[in-house]
Amino acid sequence: MGILAQFQLDDQVAIVTGAGSGIGRAIAGALAEAGAKVACVDNQAARADEAAHALAAAGHTSLAIQADITSEHDMRQMVAITESQLGPLAVCFANAGVAERRSNLVDAPLEEWQHVLDVDLTGPFLTVREAARVMIPRQRGKIVVTASAVGFVASFHHGLSRAYGSAKGGVINLIRSVAVELAPHNIQVNGFAPGYTRTQIGGGRYLAETPETAAFVEAVQERCPAGRLAEPEDYTGVAVFLASQASNFMVGHTVVVDGGWLIV
Ligand SMILES: NC(=O)c1ccc[n+]([C@@H]2O[C@H](COP(=O)([O-])OP(=O)(O)OC[C@H]3O[C@@H](n4cnc5c(N)ncnc54)[C@H](O)[C@@H]3O)[C@@H](O)[C@H]2O)c1
Repeated sequence: MGILAQFQLDDQVAIVTGAGSGIGRAIAGALAEAGAKVACVDNQAARADEAAHALAAAGHTSLAIQADITSEHDMRQMVAITESQLGPLAVCFANAGVAERRSNLVDAPLEEWQHVLDVDLTGPFLTVREAARVMIPRQRGKIVVTASAVGFVASFHHGLSRAYGSAKGGVINLIRSVAVELAPHNIQVNGFAPGYTRTQIGGGRYLAETPETAAFVEAVQERCPAGRLAEPEDYTGVAVFLASQASNFMVGHTVVVDGGWLIV
């Protein structure tokens, strides 16, 4: 197969969770541009609709699904609806996630810890499990999970990524563990770990729209070797690579794409 052909996703069916915003939205666009038919999944229906409409307006086949990744029922339905409307699932991106509010450990509410673990760790587990259930009988598939650089290290701002970093560290090992289980079925499971990225996550703390968040963003930029935050489009290349035949011998790894954050 020619090198560029390895990256093509012609008519393959893909699911992207959290496709209504930020990184997921950029990934959905990239997969569609590479030829995939994309189910845009989000728990906010309007966001899922908008993402799917944008793909359709650009001439791609797409579908909007409102689903909560923490719900077994929703994750089962997500796969069933995708397969009945678009065809057999080939690619699944477990991307949706939430951040936590900053707090001191001694004041940290259990509800928030539980919510972040539910969305950021149990959510990917349920997403991956439902994808595997339809992929295993076909002996083919690509599963990609969005981790985070703070799944490898602590946040440089204390109290910002306690539950989040714990969940993302768990996700990096979830990727390894399910990758071992699914590799004999010709299903490759991998992840990527973004650095700080300009999206809506965390109530807009990376958008620098207030003096407080602007100061935070400036501190991030100073600390980051690349000297900037990422844009969601910074991950589209790695997303297509991990979804395509070009990554067929890659099993259970999390690719770090962080502007050099983890090397200093
Ligand atoms: N932005 C960053 O700096 C950054 C860094 C590292 C990793 N990430 C990860 O990237 C992924 C995407 O985040 P983003 O920055 O694009 O954030 P975002 O808030 O812009 O987008 C996340 C989307 O997920 C959806 N979502 C939230 N909870 C959901 C649920 N329970 N079920 C279904 N959908 C749900 C939201 O409605 C939203 O549309 C997340 O896993 C996040 O942890 C982000």
